[in-house]
Amino acid sequence: MLSATESLNKPLEQPFRDFLSATVADASAHARFLNLLSMLEHMGSRKIMLSQMKGILTQDILKHLAEETRHAFFFKREAEKMSGSAIEGYPSDRTMAVPSGRLYFGRLDAGLTSDMPADVHAETGYLWVSLIVELRAIWGYRMYQDVLAEAASPLSLKSIIAEEDRHLVDMVLRLEEIGFDAASALPLACELEKRLFGKLLGALQTEHRARAA
Ligand SMILES: [Fe+2]
Ligand SMILES: [Fe+2]
Repeated sequence: MLSATESLNKPLEQPFRDFLSATVADASAHARFLNLLSMLEHMGSRKIMLSQMKGILTQDILKHLAEETRHAFFFKREAEKMSGSAIEGYPSDRTMAVPSGRLYFGRLDAGLTSDMPADVHAETGYLWVSLIVELRAIWGYRMYQDVLAEAASPLSLKSIIAEEDRHLVDMVLRLEEIGFDAASALPLACELEKRLFGKLLGALQTEHRARAA
């Protein structure tokens, strides 16, 4: 699954890596990028919670929710460390590409769940959106980790990557258990996600260029 993601996303690899290198080299841009990651992690954890209001809050789901919330906390703490001051919420002067980040998540969620039959298992939407997001998170965080290591940054994403890897496995196994055919739905879902991520990346690059000018 991860290698399919890698080959599908080959064209985005260099542009994203270039964006990351430029961002890591600029503390103020880096802080705003970290706060965007905090926002995305927070949106993810909030979506898990909302999707399960009428569902069954199992121990697994609560664990996943707690971990995504901790990721939001982790990136917020690093953003504050990097900028040297407290950052309340996700205002656009302290957070990169806020509207595009929100659109990415909103459109992805809607696109992946709108055609689901009403009688699917209560966890299906949550599991399916999470699986697609985890693929992107692992792809992006691995590259970000490489760039941080190249820049000899003290920031390490290793524990977060290990948790995202675990989440991916958990989503795949649970979808299998409830009888959802992830393998057949995957190519179309990954194409949609890639298109939406491409737009987000475009917004990040535009904002970076505008600030650098
Ligand atoms: Fe996460
Ligand atoms: Fe995750």
